[in-house]
Amino acid sequence: MKKILLTGVSGQVGHALLRQLTELNEYKVVGCDRQQLDLTQPEQIKHVMREVKPDLVINPAAYTAVDIAESERELAYAINATAVQILAEEAARLHASLIHFSTDYVYDGTKPSCYVETDAVNPVSVYGASKLAGEEAIRNIGLPHLILRTSWVYGSYGKNFMKTIIRLGQEREVLRIVADQHGAPTSDISIAQSVLQLINYWQPVHSEQSGVYHLVNAGETTWYGFAKAIETQYKALSREYGWPAMALKEIQPISTEEYPTPARRPVNSRLLTAKVAKQFGVTLPEWPQALTQVMAELDFTSAET
Ligand SMILES: NC(=O)c1ccc[n+]([C@@H]2O[C@H](COP(=O)([O-])OP(=O)(O)OC[C@H]3O[C@@H](n4cnc5c(N)ncnc54)[C@H](OP(=O)(O)O)[C@@H]3O)[C@@H](O)[C@H]2O)c1
Repeated sequence: MKKILLTGVSGQVGHALLRQLTELNEYKVVGCDRQQLDLTQPEQIKHVMREVKPDLVINPAAYTAVDIAESERELAYAINATAVQILAEEAARLHASLIHFSTDYVYDGTKPSCYVETDAVNPVSVYGASKLAGEEAIRNIGLPHLILRTSWVYGSYGKNFMKTIIRLGQEREVLRIVADQHGAPTSDISIAQSVLQLINYWQPVHSEQSGVYHLVNAGETTWYGFAKAIETQYKALSREYGWPAMALKEIQPISTEEYPTPARRPVNSRLLTAKVAKQFGVTLPEWPQALTQVMAELDFTSAET
């Protein structure tokens, strides 16, 4: 039986993938958390790869603390670039292929319209630059690969914007949310379901299929628009499900300048997904629909939520 090595199973995407990949009958999935595979340890990466001998490596693990990365450059690069290079080198030695995740933050956000995969990259943060370095390492090694650039990831598991808005909405009457950054919230479920489809349609022997693909939910909004949708959907569902009531009465739109952060973020994170649709027939649901699907998974009786 063929084997998949999946990293970062304690993260949002890794967790969703671990659930979803059980549907693949022809693969055995070996999921690793940080204890089993620490990406800051090159020798451990080599050891695990040589022990497991995967046919396919899926790497959602990453250093994702965008603001802290500004002061932890070395660690961000160790995990997002050096470790990715070693994973790709080891995968190439085994004639395995690689599915890797990257980010809208490789772009500077100055393009007035949606980004396509061939647009120039120009990260404006350490996190974005470290993710781009990981992409470049994979391209240089040249093994069969899919680099999936996604954005604004959230789900019912892990820490994310949706969970923060729900928690703050239960505590506060007024929230102020940035309304001038544009992009697509993308659910962990949508990503995992798309990856399952990709594994079924991708033929790694066809080298022209290797490359970068945007993978985000359809439609676009701002962080403010996303927060409003979370508020509306939560309030509608909380009555039905008996969830804790929201204290929230008002969400105020603010500018990026009014909410300074250590890392700069692109004002335009809108990514066109025509390439993944054309190449593999993969289309992702509209983001409000994906939000409803995630909301239905919320469980306020568990410590996780
Ligand atoms: N989150 C977003 O909004 C977003 C947006 C665009 C792109 N992406 C990309 O999408 C992918 C998945 O993101 P996500 O949201 O699922 O991230 P996440 O929830 O922050 O999870 C990151 C995972 O990486 C693991 N990790 C961190 N350092 C590690 C190390 N030294 N060794 C091994 N594992 C380590 C974490 O383990 P611990 O639980 O032990 O820390 C966790 O399992 C990443 O490539 C990310 O760059 C994310």
